[in-house]
Amino acid sequence: MTEVLTPTKSAIAKAAKIIQNGGLVAFPTETVYGLGASAFNPYAVAKIFKVKNRPNFDPIIVHIADFSELDLLVKACPPKAQKLIEKFWPGPLTVVLPKTSKIPEIVTAGLPSVAVRMPAHPVAHAIIKKARVPIAAPSANKFGYLSPTTAEHVKKQLNGKIDLIIDGGKCTWGIESTVVYFEDDNVTILRHGAIPKEEIEEVIGPVKTLKKTNRVLSPGTLPKHYAPKTPVIILTKKTKIDRTKKIGLLAFRPPTKINGFYKVEILSKNGDYIEAAANLFEALHRLDEGNLDLIYAQKVKEIGLGRAIMERLKKASYKEKS
Ligand code: TXA
Ligand code: MG
Repeated sequence: MTEVLTPTKSAIAKAAKIIQNGGLVAFPTETVYGLGASAFNPYAVAKIFKVKNRPNFDPIIVHIADFSELDLLVKACPPKAQKLIEKFWPGPLTVVLPKTSKIPEIVTAGLPSVAVRMPAHPVAHAIIKKARVPIAAPSANKFGYLSPTTAEHVKKQLNGKIDLIIDGGKCTWGIESTVVYFEDDNVTILRHGAIPKEEIEEVIGPVKTLKKTNRVLSPGTLPKHYAPKTPVIILTKKTKIDRTKKIGLLAFRPPTKINGFYKVEILSKNGDYIEAAANLFEALHRLDEGNLDLIYAQKVKEIGLGRAIMERLKKASYKEKS
């Protein structure tokens, strides 16, 4: 059994000690729960890969608590990266920049750049500060499965496999950070996340998004990801709903008619994207526990946070061509 503690002062001290000693701690951030290890300890980071069943080509984000720590980790920070950091840190923005030799190769899966983020969550901040090392942390779930937005989600997947879970309640954003890659003046969004493309472009002008052809920039971006065990189908006008099966519905807003759905989850009562993003993984976790044959998911418009929601739904519903 993995111990679950609320974030008291002594629990934070315990978490920090475990990190310093090469152990693994799951902790809340404002996006999703992270599974943390000392970023400077390659053995501890190797344990993350093992516990998550994560392929070793998928690099891990390094979390810091102070701006000064960035200089230790990256060789250069181009002006556009600097501007975004000033605007969005602490918060759900991850920047990918050329790494220094301080970062073990295992953290970046051998890539020359490292992803860095400064979380805004007070508990995440306190643990990093107390541990006095940057913390390498992917989302605290089994690789490819739904991200955890509560301590309960973490426990269900990783109980007995990690040293401690800090329960800080439900994550406010409920969707991961936006990952942005910099190559001098060239900026590419590798993963849509809590900070929409539009807000990034307001600060630094037009940015690119990851194309299939340059996926090598982010080897972790596989076509299937964030997936419940139950198959997901995105609803279009052409979809023929299979009512012979036990079906569930993931609705963006309250649907006008609900016919024959065994379980329905509504992401937002009045169609608010922030609320919908915050509820997305939780709703999918619940549907996945409903013994359904199939989950139908309503589309949302691919603007603002809708892009991050749709990126996750497309990956959750991805089917290999047979
Ligand atoms: O909100 C978040 O970002 C959460 C919390 C815990 O901080 N973390 C998270 O980590 O979502 P993870 O490992 O589940 O997703 C990180 C993504 C992956 O797609 C990975 O491939 C990419 O970031 N990534 C990490 N390091 C990278 C690097 N050096 N270069 C390119 N992509 C990188
Ligand atoms: Mg993840």
